[in-house]
Amino acid sequence: MTVPGTLIPDEAWDLLVDWLPSNEDPERPQVTLSTVDSFGDPDARTVLLTSFDEKGFYFNTDGASRKAADIAAHPAVAITVLWPGFTHQVVIRGTAAPAPPVHVAAAYAARSPYLKQLAWLNTHEFAALPRDERVAQWAAFEEAHAGVFEQPESWVGYLVTPTRLTFWSSNGDTASQRVEFSLAADGGSWSRRYLAG
Ligand SMILES: Cc1cc2nc3c(=O)[nH]c(=O)nc-3n(C[C@H](O)[C@H](O)[C@H](O)COP(=O)(O)O)c2cc1C
Repeated sequence: MTVPGTLIPDEAWDLLVDWLPSNEDPERPQVTLSTVDSFGDPDARTVLLTSFDEKGFYFNTDGASRKAADIAAHPAVAITVLWPGFTHQVVIRGTAAPAPPVHVAAAYAARSPYLKQLAWLNTHEFAALPRDERVAQWAAFEEAHAGVFEQPESWVGYLVTPTRLTFWSSNGDTASQRVEFSLAADGGSWSRRYLAG
């Protein structure tokens, strides 16, 4: 059921390719990333899905963020992709690990100048400044760097290796439905089942 050398069963892969925008599409899906902290308490936030391939799903963030601390303590995560809105949902359960540096660098290079600058100035200290100061410091930083922003050390990326993929689709003529692919606990094989929506 799985293409040799890939970690995603080929039937699930076909659905991903069919449902999600290609990695080259500048419009990135906004997804909900759920994590669990070192106390077992849950958290969730929106991130952009950077890309996906046969190994799994990539996102990028600040290495000093709460989600990065959660993952360091507890690498089990879930990603909920509502795309396109209201008709299709993919829920991915899996394990997050640092993405290869070459992948992280490529993701940074592909970001807009605004998002590159944000990667430098997205600190709690900056956020606490009065609005006028934030605007002035943003403009001063942009001018000092002539709009060219190297990749900061704080910029990190994660690869989520899936252990379960659940595809939900609506249907105007009949009930919504899910098809779910689960990796056996020993990691040996994938199984598929249908679930009520
Ligand atoms: C539409 C949208 C897209 C976002 N994309 C990202 C992203 O790709 N990476 C990221 O770190 N934060 C992104 N954020 C901000 C996060 O939702 C979150 O506020 C931030 O990462 C801090 O989360 P944490 O404290 O739970 O780690 C995005 C927010 C929104 C509303």
